Amino acid sequence: MATIPVKPYSLGVCYYPEQWDSARWPEDLSAMRDLGLRYVRVGEFAWSRLEPAPGKYQFGWLQEVLDLAAERELAVVLGTPTATPPKWLVDRMPDMLAVDAEGQPRKFGSRRHYCFSHLGYRTEAAKIVTKLAETVGQHSAIAAWQTDNEYGCHDTVLSYSEAARIAFRKWLADKYQTIDRLNQAWGNAFWSLEYQEFDEIELPNLTVTEPNPAHTLDFRRFSSDQVKTFNLEQVEIIRRLSPGRSVLHNFMGEFLAFDHFDVAQDLDAASWDSYPLGALTLLDVPETHKRKFLRSGDPDFPAFHHDLYRTCGRGRYWVMEQQPGPVNWAPYNPSPYPGMVRLWTHEAFAHGAEVVSYFRWRQAPFAQEQMHTGLNRPDGSADVATDEIRAAMKELGATSLNGNHQSEPASVALIFDYEAAWTLAIQPQGEHLDYFTLALSFYRSARRLGLNVDIVPQSANLDSYKLVLVPSLPILQPQLIASLKNFRSPVLFGPRTGSKTPDFQIPSNLPPGPLQELFPMRVVRVESLPEFEPIPVTWRGANYQCRYWSEQVQTQATPWITSANGSGIAFTHEAFTYLATIPEQSLLDAMVEDIVSHTGLPTILLPEGLRTRVRRNLRYFFNYGPAAASLPVSKETEFIAGGPDLPVAGVAIVREDRYKL
Ligand code: GAL
Repeated sequence: MATIPVKPYSLGVCYYPEQWDSARWPEDLSAMRDLGLRYVRVGEFAWSRLEPAPGKYQFGWLQEVLDLAAERELAVVLGTPTATPPKWLVDRMPDMLAVDAEGQPRKFGSRRHYCFSHLGYRTEAAKIVTKLAETVGQHSAIAAWQTDNEYGCHDTVLSYSEAARIAFRKWLADKYQTIDRLNQAWGNAFWSLEYQEFDEIELPNLTVTEPNPAHTLDFRRFSSDQVKTFNLEQVEIIRRLSPGRSVLHNFMGEFLAFDHFDVAQDLDAASWDSYPLGALTLLDVPETHKRKFLRSGDPDFPAFHHDLYRTCGRGRYWVMEQQPGPVNWAPYNPSPYPGMVRLWTHEAFAHGAEVVSYFRWRQAPFAQEQMHTGLNRPDGSADVATDEIRAAMKELGATSLNGNHQSEPASVALIFDYEAAWTLAIQPQGEHLDYFTLALSFYRSARRLGLNVDIVPQSANLDSYKLVLVPSLPILQPQLIASLKNFRSPVLFGPRTGSKTPDFQIPSNLPPGPLQELFPMRVVRVESLPEFEPIPVTWRGANYQCRYWSEQVQTQATPWITSANGSGIAFTHEAFTYLATIPEQSLLDAMVEDIVSHTGLPTILLPEGLRTRVRRNLRYFFNYGPAAASLPVSKETEFIAGGPDLPVAGVAIVREDRYKL
């Protein structure tokens, strides 16, 4: 049966028919269509309704929902229910529960309580996905699938279970082949850690003091591979039984526990769940920043993830869950400014999203998320986001963003690396040395200049970029060094790049290890510093501070910037710049601005809170700031939406070819 045709740049919503009386379904689905939504995601937590008892399947209700959706030309994204294994399954197979680092099994009573390594659970997961895809996979309403839900949410990638222990030993044996090689790679002569057999190796938790970092890094790589395997099993079943539908997974923001590039390789498109206000409460940024953007969210956080997941999906990505109002899970849960839902929607499309889907249709008056808003209140009345969705949709129509949604490459690449995050987290060597914070701060510096950025892995082809940012990359892959050998545009490397071998050892030629082939320099001493010992820097007449980290560099190259005590904090060699510390944002901004000024790239210096992005022939402006902003535009600029004075939460869209400064 042919599937429902849906235009790209469509809107959708998450809906839980199992949580409502079936009498409400027809009117709910009609109301979604009346609002202009084209996609509805269902099913991702409904296992206990699909299989209330072992082998006793009840798919009638889902069939009914699919029929109702098809009648209304609503395309369905069907979620596999494997994030919520039901009670009967856990009781039958109690060792399927994930085990936390303290050795405690995670109990039934919420969600994501399974261990990725448990083969019995993997068989059950494959069984329910097969049954689901066999029964409804050919239904015309189904346009896409979502595997599971937010892999890793609630800290569930690392499991210290017996199943994980067995699987980890096998993974190690496959990787190292002989135990001598493993002992050598890990440096197990240290503290008598040598093993005779792979079967002696334990998981790296509950040790008296820190376990060997190489052991922990391998455990993190292994755990990431387990997520990939678990996901691929579902993808293969769906592709076989429900062909022609896109298979997605909904990833999270600021989530580093597994390699998303790797897992997403097996999907047709990536998607992510965007909760900008909740996310800001958890960011490692100054209190003043949190205050300023309390009701709009960090101006670069959603954009960062759009640019990351666009790469993960090889050009194809969605926002599967968009925050509609206050959430329930952050330390405080403010309301967005009126207009923010519209702004977040446009920002997603400006970065190339195919679909933006809101979480959720109606606020549930029961259970864990009763304080989480939806598009409608618990009594069914429309909440404020619905008007904003209508406005966004109207403007979207005027933008004529349609047809092929492939994105053009950006001018700047930022290399993002999950192994880098693990390496720095395993041995931080000081406080505040957080990989994501560093990556976001590099990203901000480029975005503040109005530049489009692609967030890419080490293996990406960099040829078309005019600037490459490498916030930090402790383990450099030979492939990256090779591609940078003939690269002539500037590259900015952050601290600790090249500081470890793949076995988590200090390189034999000292850091930055293989980077020395491109940049003759050696890091001969590193120190970490407390908050109260900043490194003062005066550069081009302005005073700045660097913080937390300092490297002593030996090189023939003259330092580009020095600290007040005369030691180099940034060094340049040909097109490469190496940063030997962590500069405060304003200094990093000034450095990136200087580097970009030599590339010929056109820039727009944006005030804090104002952001822009070019998508095909459209230029978007977004005001995340707490006050109205004047756009850097001339009188002749033609506006498709908004105008030259952008209110708080305002969006303006102009034709790029008619845009004049
Ligand atoms: C996401 C999750 C949803 C819901 C939402 C609340 O993490 O996928 O099921 O819990 O958060 O903000």
